[in-house]
Amino acid sequence: MKKQIKTKPLNTLKCVFPVKSVNEGLSRMIVAAFISQLDPTVSELSDMKTVISEAVTNCIVHAYKGFPDKSKAFVYIYGEYYSDGRVVIKVKDKGVGIEDVKLARQPLYTTDRENERSGMGFTIMESFTDKLRVYSKKGKGTTVVIEKRIGL
Ligand SMILES: Nc1ncnc2c1ncn2[C@@H]1O[C@H](COP(=O)(O)OP(=O)(O)OP(=O)(O)O)[C@@H](O)[C@H]1O
Ligand SMILES: [Mg+2]
Repeated sequence: MKKQIKTKPLNTLKCVFPVKSVNEGLSRMIVAAFISQLDPTVSELSDMKTVISEAVTNCIVHAYKGFPDKSKAFVYIYGEYYSDGRVVIKVKDKGVGIEDVKLARQPLYTTDRENERSGMGFTIMESFTDKLRVYSKKGKGTTVVIEKRIGL
């Protein structure tokens, strides 16, 4: 079997914070500061902030629904970028998971109508990234992988 050569990222990021709504803004600022080293345009930066905000808000709003002790509920962000400007950000939770990811990604699909959610989070994330992958397991949690080329 041919060995695949994996390019090393130029830089990486790891951060963990509790699922508090104040941390949505914090996560946006952290990722923006991380990718600013790639000299992004104003619109690239704003797109990335929007996507992070949607992904982290989902962790805060949906992932730990019904959990008795939210102080033990965390959002995990892992980032890396490469010399060709490719940025990969993973937003992960260890919450309830999504039963049907394909359905959840449909525009206007929401399980939270009572709070007037529009069900457009995943659609927005898709439209502002080059690639969006969602991995989820019921009872185990969800990981959203955001990929976007910056500064080219
Ligand atoms: N991290 C997560 N953990 C558990 N369920 C999730 C998570 N992220 C999304 N979901 C599920 O997927 C559905 C669709 O998510 P999406 O972000 O598209 O819409 P929304 O959050 O309901 O509304 P909006 O983002 O427009 O406020 C959610 O209603 C929820 O059921
Ligand atoms: Mg959402």
